[in-house]
Amino acid sequence: MEPRLNSKNLQRAAKDHLWMHFTEMAAYREADVPVITRGEGEYVYDDRGERYLDGLSGLFVSQVGHGRAEIADAIAEQARELAYFPIWTYAHPKAIELADRIAGLAPGDLDRVFFTTSGSEAVESAWKLARQYFKAVGQPTRHKVISRRIAYHGTTMGALSITGLQDIKSPFEPLVPSTIQVPNTNHYRAPVHGDDPEAFGRWAADQIEEAILQNGPETVAAVYVEPVQNSGGCFPPPPGYLRRVRRICDRYGVLMVSDEVICAFGRLGEYFGATKYGYVPDMITFAKGATSGYVPLGGVIAREGLMAPFQEDGAAFLHGITFAGHPVAAAAALANLDLFESEGLLDNVRENGPVFRQTLERLLDLPIVGDVRGDGFFYGIELVRDKETKESFSAEESKTLLKGFISSSLFESGLICRADDRGEPVIQLAPPLTCGPAHFEEIERILRKVLTEAWDLL
Ligand SMILES: Cc1ncc(COP(=O)(O)O)c(C=O)c1O
Repeated sequence: MEPRLNSKNLQRAAKDHLWMHFTEMAAYREADVPVITRGEGEYVYDDRGERYLDGLSGLFVSQVGHGRAEIADAIAEQARELAYFPIWTYAHPKAIELADRIAGLAPGDLDRVFFTTSGSEAVESAWKLARQYFKAVGQPTRHKVISRRIAYHGTTMGALSITGLQDIKSPFEPLVPSTIQVPNTNHYRAPVHGDDPEAFGRWAADQIEEAILQNGPETVAAVYVEPVQNSGGCFPPPPGYLRRVRRICDRYGVLMVSDEVICAFGRLGEYFGATKYGYVPDMITFAKGATSGYVPLGGVIAREGLMAPFQEDGAAFLHGITFAGHPVAAAAALANLDLFESEGLLDNVRENGPVFRQTLERLLDLPIVGDVRGDGFFYGIELVRDKETKESFSAEESKTLLKGFISSSLFESGLICRADDRGEPVIQLAPPLTCGPAHFEEIERILRKVLTEAWDLL
């Protein structure tokens, strides 16, 4: 069947009717909206037939790459068998099978899976679960959440309240009260212990303890941390940091939530970031890579103990989402996990992660590249005006350089990645887990060209 809109009136319709997310729509008053029409492996193609290396896996999503018939077939088969049924009161085989499989992959006794349809809903659901749990166990004053500055945890009102990015919170204030922000683990710009990662990690974890004490431990429900914080440009945890956060949470009876919407499902070479860094949180939130984006699905994995009050007679977690645990999404997730196993994707990330790092670190010879940081297949490159002093760009420079020149030049040069200015300006990279050295070379070559041109423009 011919598409209803050809390339030209697709543009018109996009400008007239499509409201793009987090997008300055005025930027497309004159310029064309980039329209991606199909994907194959590590590459996507636009409506002009141009090919791009998907260096961001769409949006940290496409772990197994694009156009995988195995997942498409599983989706079609499930849609024919049972396209939809809720997991309210009833269950269906694919949601059961997926919950069982995820529980088997999750660390420790994280054995209960509560499905959602997105990362924001997962973050929000974990907070609601913590609140109802504490009320049920006789600690009704525990409702606050501690999270880290510049961290992104989603856009629904609760998840946005936990998010540490003031610019995207202000338009919606007043938000849900009782969220508290503490320092993140940006070691490149560490305010103390810049020359000692372990001491810096102890300091950063102790900031959480201080916030718990200041607010009154009896009022704090949970601490949210990403294993590697994305927003701000990939802040890996300093050695020992996350285990120390775990001990602090235990000391004060606070739940630790590992927000793994990006870090789970192979991004760091393990199914979960918590496994990689050796801690057992009370809850893990996930989404994105769980289905490699073939259909939306997210969720919360909770420790068995959190379920206990909800197993009493007459008790229930009073929360639900119509499409959560959708049969087609669950079938896609199971087929996705089959590909992880049959293609050894975790091993690929473990083996090639160091190669990815070394290839990107070659860019450190450019005057504009201040820092290359990350883990697995998840990296941020911080751009600076002065390498010696680590001086950053002014807000204006950042806008013209990142949003203006670098983003569009990278795209025109055939690389999809993200130029982000939510902290200091960074380029974010998270390619599909199927990538290898040849893809890294291509990424480095395009970045080198565009960043050299950007420096010359300054
Ligand atoms: C760490 C983290 N948490 C939550 C979210 C929100 O997920 P979603 O966009 O699926 O609602 C994101 C999205 O990027 C994320 O990176």
